[in-house]
Amino acid sequence: MPQAHFAELHPDAPASGAPHPHESARAQVQGAAPYVDDVSEPRGTLHAAPVLSPVAHGRLNGVDASAALALPGVHAVVLAGDIPGDPVLATFVHDEPVLAQGEVHHVGQVIGLIVADSMRTARQAARAVRLDITPLPAILTIDDAMAAQSFVLPPVTVTRGDATAALASAPHRLQGGFAVGGQEHFYLEGQVALALPQEQGQWHILSSTQHPGEVQHWVAHALGIANHAVRVECRRMGGGFGGKETQAGHMAVWAALAARKVGAPVKLRLDRDDDFLITGKRHPFAYRYDVGFDDHGRLHGLTIDMMANCGWSADLSGPVADRAVFHVDNAYFLGDVVVRSYRCRTNVQSHTAFRGFGGPQGVIAIEAILGDIARALALDPLAVRMANLYGPRGATERNVTHYQMPVEDNILHELLPKLELLAQYQRRKEAIPSWNAAHPHLQRGIAITPVKFGISFTATQFNQAGALVHVYTDGSVQVNHGGTEMGQGLNTKVAQIVADELGVPMALVLVTAAATDKVPNASATAASSGTDLNGKAAQAAARTVRDNLAAFVCGLDGCGAGAVEFRHGKVVTPKGERDFAAVVQQAYANRIQLWSDGFYRTPKIHYDKTTLTGRPFFYFAYGAACTEVAIDTFTGEYRVLAVDILHDVGRSINPAIDIGQIEGGFIQGMGWLTTEELAWNAKGELTTKAPSTYKIPTAADVPAHLHVHLWPEANAEDTVHRSKAVGEPPFMLAISVWEALRNAVAAARADLAGAEDRVPVQMDAPATPERILWAIGRPGAQEKSPSS
Ligand code: MTE
Ligand code: MOS
Repeated sequence: MPQAHFAELHPDAPASGAPHPHESARAQVQGAAPYVDDVSEPRGTLHAAPVLSPVAHGRLNGVDASAALALPGVHAVVLAGDIPGDPVLATFVHDEPVLAQGEVHHVGQVIGLIVADSMRTARQAARAVRLDITPLPAILTIDDAMAAQSFVLPPVTVTRGDATAALASAPHRLQGGFAVGGQEHFYLEGQVALALPQEQGQWHILSSTQHPGEVQHWVAHALGIANHAVRVECRRMGGGFGGKETQAGHMAVWAALAARKVGAPVKLRLDRDDDFLITGKRHPFAYRYDVGFDDHGRLHGLTIDMMANCGWSADLSGPVADRAVFHVDNAYFLGDVVVRSYRCRTNVQSHTAFRGFGGPQGVIAIEAILGDIARALALDPLAVRMANLYGPRGATERNVTHYQMPVEDNILHELLPKLELLAQYQRRKEAIPSWNAAHPHLQRGIAITPVKFGISFTATQFNQAGALVHVYTDGSVQVNHGGTEMGQGLNTKVAQIVADELGVPMALVLVTAAATDKVPNASATAASSGTDLNGKAAQAAARTVRDNLAAFVCGLDGCGAGAVEFRHGKVVTPKGERDFAAVVQQAYANRIQLWSDGFYRTPKIHYDKTTLTGRPFFYFAYGAACTEVAIDTFTGEYRVLAVDILHDVGRSINPAIDIGQIEGGFIQGMGWLTTEELAWNAKGELTTKAPSTYKIPTAADVPAHLHVHLWPEANAEDTVHRSKAVGEPPFMLAISVWEALRNAVAAARADLAGAEDRVPVQMDAPATPERILWAIGRPGAQEKSPSS
């Protein structure tokens, strides 16, 4: 559990830097924080349920809904022909029909909707719809897609130097391949939207979405109306994790089409099984690599093919696969390198954003390779990692990424040794061989892996944000910004920033629901940039109001505006101090503007989309984790014994929230790499579509020893209060669990072979007990080919 000792919440201390509780924490534990499904339904609200394709790929010859429509309580069926606007969603690639028409492309594709009096009736009726589908050959795996050259977007290659020559002259060489699985978001609040028709063709949509602006755009596009006629609102999500970046838009569009057809409000709340079947997940990846290295394990040429299973449409696969390319270096200087990225089209769900957004699938590749190199050379894996790091701060060599961005602030040369000491890595690593010898049926492994994660949307245009700050005449403050709250604490941090700007206590500042009629054209809350962007925009808005008030008070006291201070709920000039509320009152009476907008655009970033080169990121966030595990060599079961994390959040705006994000991100990453296994059968149907078959970590899976420490330095770049983004980077720290498991497997293999085993550990992720057993290779344990 967290080791930080928080300062008391002192009323006079600045809000930023203090561990304020999440703005909704109390309401959430009391069940008093409404989600979309909790909002009272207006009279006459109907419910929609989706009709799903049972076939992975086929010709859709006809839909017969007569039996469904005959059921009592059923009002309508909605099909592609009912779409007044564009029947193709307004995505960037424009390749995704709103409702299937002519063909179906995966098991679970939405063909239509049944609208009924109740959710239950709608679901029952949806099952009574008869579909006439002629099956066609389906592409279900990365291998199939590569063989058929089936891609949602063309392959991309990033090259530096001469990898072929470097490989040819390398003292050592390894070739290999492996695969990592996808991941279901498993937000506790499932996908939901409520579409409320308004006067004169206008719409109000309540959506559990990370991107209200896109929901607005998609709904307007499908209805064939202007954006200004659609108002989308999101007070909070019960988790998004990237799964509500684009996927939430589908619910809203479907609900709106249904509402338009029946002329009444319509709610669409997916059943969990349907949510699993319909929505995209983290992209599964497969890799092939050829790596050269010297006696110290330092890289000497690398070629790597990264194959992403994108599912049936592009969705965000382009940017996700790009981010995997940008993070295949993780923290290491790759030198001569060729990275080829394939965006495979398959007949499964359209895979989408998930915490890390392709970053984890890049980082794990190089960590796997370095682990293999260390085991091949019988070197300390940490020493091999240290030998490959980018140059330290101030370095003039080995400090440019394969995509030509300089790494100027690499703190890992200091952070990794610090964690090594905190976790007592060397002592524990040295104790393992004798422990393993004494426990032949249990084997331990330990690993430290770092992370370096680029912060900014790689699509430069998204790195902008707006906010509104309203000061009311009683001195209370309302803030609205373009970001959405999904549990990550964005609203709390923005309130802290605004409270400090105006020098008022937190209790005076209220953050309200994200809504497209307050801040227009807002980017998705994603890429971990919520606070960086919206915090700066809200700070700018608050600063304008403060400047108005300062100028006003200076007029009264005859001082320079720079001499006015706002602190502890007071406005202080050289002549004396006044209550903030009193100044606001007086300013209002003198017709001074008490509200403002604020805008922010991230500086310094630029990047060439065609060559994937430039400075896509404003800065990097760093961290490292040390994990120790024990495996049972007869069953493949294991335990994560201890985890120590040292992570860089710059100057923390809220250490309680930041540590929560680090713990949550780590555990979610651990789930991805251990227990969360998605399995599609030979017909392309996802068979792990409920908590009974798909296992996310619970509180009981949290290691008893989970210590999180924050790196004490401020961000070198000018971010809000010099903080750093925290939402995604810690996810990748869980790769230490996977590497520790592979080290334990190597120990078990060596034990079985009765000698030092230098055969690379062949194990795909997630490292389920089965896969660990196969990787150990105990005679008699059944081998099965990995699936991707
Ligand atoms: N934390 C909680 N509790 N719930 C979430 O859904 N999403 C993660 C991360 N942390 C998430 C979360 C993802 S994918 C991102 S991109 C960031 O939060 C988004 O929020 P931020 O930019 O404000 O950090
Ligand atoms: Mo996060 S995957 O960028 O929503």
